[in-house]
Amino acid sequence: MKIAIPAETEQGEPRVAATPETVKRYAGLGAKVAVEKGAGVKSGILDADYVAAGAEIGSDVTRDADIVLKVRRPAKAELSSYKPGALVISIMDPYGNDAALADMAAAKVNAFAMEFMPRITRAQVMDVLSSQANLAGYRAVIDGSAEYGRALPMMMTAAGTVPAARIFIMGVGVAGLQAIATARRMGAVVTATDVRPATKEQVESLGAKFLAVEDEEFKNAQTAGGYAKEMSKEYQAKQAALTADHIKKQDIVITTALIPGRPAPKLVTKEMVASMKPGSVIVDLAVERGGNVEGAVPGKVAEVNGVKIVGHLNVPGRLAATASALYAKNLFAFVETMFDKEKKFAPNYDDELIKATLLTKDGAVVHPNFKKG
Ligand code: NAI
Repeated sequence: MKIAIPAETEQGEPRVAATPETVKRYAGLGAKVAVEKGAGVKSGILDADYVAAGAEIGSDVTRDADIVLKVRRPAKAELSSYKPGALVISIMDPYGNDAALADMAAAKVNAFAMEFMPRITRAQVMDVLSSQANLAGYRAVIDGSAEYGRALPMMMTAAGTVPAARIFIMGVGVAGLQAIATARRMGAVVTATDVRPATKEQVESLGAKFLAVEDEEFKNAQTAGGYAKEMSKEYQAKQAALTADHIKKQDIVITTALIPGRPAPKLVTKEMVASMKPGSVIVDLAVERGGNVEGAVPGKVAEVNGVKIVGHLNVPGRLAATASALYAKNLFAFVETMFDKEKKFAPNYDDELIKATLLTKDGAVVHPNFKKG
């Protein structure tokens, strides 16, 4: 049983799918681990660290691997060296990428999308959306404060008093909650908004003030899965009026709002951007999914009338070492479930975790969300 960790080929992806710690744990399951030369360098892990943990280092590691662990979906060129029947586990970003799914099916690999892991207690340790969003929320505050030309905490000095910065967090899921906690620790005055009523108490328990249109629609905005619904035009108009008045008094705005399977809701209009003071900063964490902010440019820090709009891509990758450490643990926890008590590799294709995440098998796309016909 061989597990391969190739280097990521996508530009701008510094994360890696295994750490020396998880290599040791795979060895404990009786697996041999082969890591591609240099795969961990951008996450601060040297080849020698992997070797010390028991891995082999090579250049063509996927050729005879039973399991390939990656951060990003393999490109077509990479697939040509994978063994038919190999398990390929990564963040697959499958929506709108039908051709890539077809390529994985044609390569006869069993591809698993980690982002489809059900949010049930048993699988919490495998939840890559949470582990990575948590870091993105933290990093958004760091990036926002780095672009902001003033201090965040109130400071009373002999030369005068510096006021605390006002930070507004829009969207209070995993990323937003961590952004609130981080901004509070840095001494800012924090307000936050969401459309799900459950978030009100969470925001207040972190010492921030909650602000939202709390009408009948708000009371029913959370789906059974815990996610937000797309709100009506009428609600959006009320929300925009409330936000417009609040946003002009803010120093830093961090947006994280997403709706599963839909483009990100537009929450900050160009008029709202124009109403902010020069020197203010907006960080749009939803920029890869269409963006919450008008004027946000993916991969850039845009500037509109002195207001900076930060649109960094792959924000968890901006904390590559930490992101890799958590992601590698998420993967290990999933792979471990495929071994039986005798440490024999025996994936159970009836297991709900496998059913929820399996995209392709035996030459076909098998996931219900993508199956043709
Ligand atoms: P997400 O990344 O899908 O969305 C981020 C936030 O944006 C959400 O809080 C959402 O309500 C909010 N949002 C959407 N539209 C909005 C709008 N128009 N205005 C303002 N805010 C808007 O959410 P994430 O972080 O994946 O969390 C979703 C849920 O999953 C939460 O209830 C969270 O507590 C839950 N969760 C459960 C886990 C588990 O049970 N294992 C693990 C992690 C999260």
